[in-house]
Amino acid sequence: MTEARTARPESKGRDQLPRPVLMFDSGIGGLTVLREARVLMPNRRFVYIADDAAFPYGAWEEPALRERILALFDDLLQRYRPAISVIACNTASTLAIEALREAFPGHPFVGTVPAIKPAAERTRSGLVSVLATPGTVKRQYTKDLIGKWAQKCHVRLVGSDRLAGLAEIYMRDGFVDEAAVRAEIAPCFMEKDGARTDIVVLACTHYPFLVNRMRKTAPWPVDWIDPAEAIARRAASLLTEGGDGDEEHLRGAEPDIAVFTSGRADFASRRLMQGFGLVMA
Ligand code: DGL
Repeated sequence: MTEARTARPESKGRDQLPRPVLMFDSGIGGLTVLREARVLMPNRRFVYIADDAAFPYGAWEEPALRERILALFDDLLQRYRPAISVIACNTASTLAIEALREAFPGHPFVGTVPAIKPAAERTRSGLVSVLATPGTVKRQYTKDLIGKWAQKCHVRLVGSDRLAGLAEIYMRDGFVDEAAVRAEIAPCFMEKDGARTDIVVLACTHYPFLVNRMRKTAPWPVDWIDPAEAIARRAASLLTEGGDGDEEHLRGAEPDIAVFTSGRADFASRRLMQGFGLVMA
């Protein structure tokens, strides 16, 4: 039984080799989802894609960004033949998840969208803030989530121009501008009729890397919702439902890899990817 399993990858053609989980973000944010996914799917191989050539996504016009993501996936799905793709980026998911599913029917996509439903269920004060990129904040998708799940809450959308970039610097160089973090999160904190904001949704996958600094610079304690684990769980359950479970042979001999679309990852980025157990492709 064990022998048959070990021999299986070699005996198959390229089309039948173990298929990886593809994790996609504009930069390093998707690593917050990758670390959860690894815990839940230890036998899976991962391909991490950072579209750093286009970072930050938050500043892009919608049609151009949607087109870019669709074109990238046309290539990525052929090149890596993933079993599933996780769009570990709110800015990309709220814009393109439906277009991706339409363009590539049959391929499973897991999106990352602002965790407004759990926040609405959990808040006691009824005052919730969604901290995201300017792109995610202006999406119709985000407004629809609020209309559907949080009608009884007061939800404030806070678009941050700087936090994703600050998280990139922190993870590469170990430096955080705390005054900038404080200024970026300040609009999340509301006081109304004696009640205060008690939940902040981290609606950009970069932000959990800065959550300790956010806690430190926040005017009062709140719950910070990071959806990474829920996203990883969804991916794992879709793979199991699809009959593609976590058998030992799934990983194969290939290492997990990271691909930067610029093709020009600097030393600090390479070191960071290495720290996450990813070999630069
Ligand atoms: N990590 C991305 C997200 O979840 C956004 C970062 C960017 O602006 O590119 O929204």
